[in-house]
Amino acid sequence: MAESPMNKPVPNDEDTDKEENIRCLTLLDHFGFECLPHQLVTKYMKEGFSFNILCVGETGIGKSTLIDTLFNTNSKEHKSSHFHSTVGLKIQAHELQEANVHLKLTVVKTVGYGDQINKEGSYRPIVDYLDAQFEAYLQEELKIKRSKYHDSRIHVCLYFISPTGHSLKSLDLITMKKIDHKVNIVPLIAKADTISKTDLPMFKSKIMSELAKQGIQIYQFPVDDDVTAQTNSLMKAQLPFAVVGSVEEVKVGRRTVRGRQYPWGVLQVDNENHCDFVRLRDMLLCTNMEDLKEQTHTLHYEHYRSVRLKQMGFSEVGPNNQPISFQEIYEAKRQEFAEQCLREEEQLKHKFMQRVKEKEIAFKETERELQEQFELLKRIQQEETMKLEEERRKLDEEIIEFYKMKAASESLQAQLKRDKERRK
Ligand code: GTP
Ligand code: MG
Repeated sequence: MAESPMNKPVPNDEDTDKEENIRCLTLLDHFGFECLPHQLVTKYMKEGFSFNILCVGETGIGKSTLIDTLFNTNSKEHKSSHFHSTVGLKIQAHELQEANVHLKLTVVKTVGYGDQINKEGSYRPIVDYLDAQFEAYLQEELKIKRSKYHDSRIHVCLYFISPTGHSLKSLDLITMKKIDHKVNIVPLIAKADTISKTDLPMFKSKIMSELAKQGIQIYQFPVDDDVTAQTNSLMKAQLPFAVVGSVEEVKVGRRTVRGRQYPWGVLQVDNENHCDFVRLRDMLLCTNMEDLKEQTHTLHYEHYRSVRLKQMGFSEVGPNNQPISFQEIYEAKRQEFAEQCLREEEQLKHKFMQRVKEKEIAFKETERELQEQFELLKRIQQEETMKLEEERRKLDEEIIEFYKMKAASESLQAQLKRDKERRK
């Protein structure tokens, strides 16, 4: 029987040594782990897939039509007004099924993008939305008890460029620069039927060179897998995809095709010689959907996560530049937090005592002032009493004097009366 790696322990040296010590064994029997891919297929088929698309583009540029063309739906959406004071987002969820595969599709579209006179903050709602989905995912990861969670992180941003034939607008450059490290950007030339065959290659190369000049990172098609490498290299050469959308059915000879009818002929959206719609659809849904999701998780979310964890105070190395584990950081943070609480409690206590002392001094001062006022009033009242007493004494004396005078006058009158009678 083949020797299992478990029987021969791998020496615990450096990683490179470990790899050198891993032996390739020939299995002499059937073990069954060749069925692992089938198990995964069954699992994912049961769970279903989800895909989240963000469409950024000016009002009326053809976002809804292209999404309808991609998924063969007919949403018959109302046209947005051009008078929104700020940029908004419209979120729509769809359940799609192809053969036995279920796809939960979420499409987020900009509303009123490029309609404001001052376009300075037009990218803000888009950036906020992308961050909010990352934050929700991070919070879910940090939960102790996790529930069934629908991942709403955006896997691809279809950026609709106006078919001016000239160059990118400053709004395009600013927005793409702000979101290029948060989402996989796939640039599209919208309504490409309005650009002539000779102008299109020049317009495409102008856009690509402008993006490179501004250092804007767009989605890089994976080329490491032999099967997709060839397709993706061809796709890359076609960027930005010049797309035309239409769900209308048009007769071409005896065939009915999806296209746009013009006085001089029909543009077939599913014809690769007419536009890049099929290339976009294949790139998005057939070849790279899984890679777009993986890039979202391993590149963009990872970047957001590391920035957020650093903001929260986590890092990979300790104060002495030594690697430090999450547990150690957590313990250190907890300790630091407890010490900070203690310090703040002490400060609060100190402040409280200070306030009590200040109040005590203020109360004493008020008490002293009241006492002085009371003493003053008492003195005034005593003086008033003494004055009154004096006046009363004087009045008593005056009354006595009055009675004396009255008695004297009465006796004088009586004397006069007697003298008068005697004279009679
Ligand atoms: P809002 O949601 O209102 O911002 O617009 P939108 O970006 O979703 O554009 P929508 O798909 O509603 O298309 C606006 C108009 O452009 C419609 O009249 C479409 O028929 C037309 N249209 C859409 N795609 C194309 C295209 O590829 N070429 C041309 N020529 N017209 C198109
Ligand atoms: Mg629309």
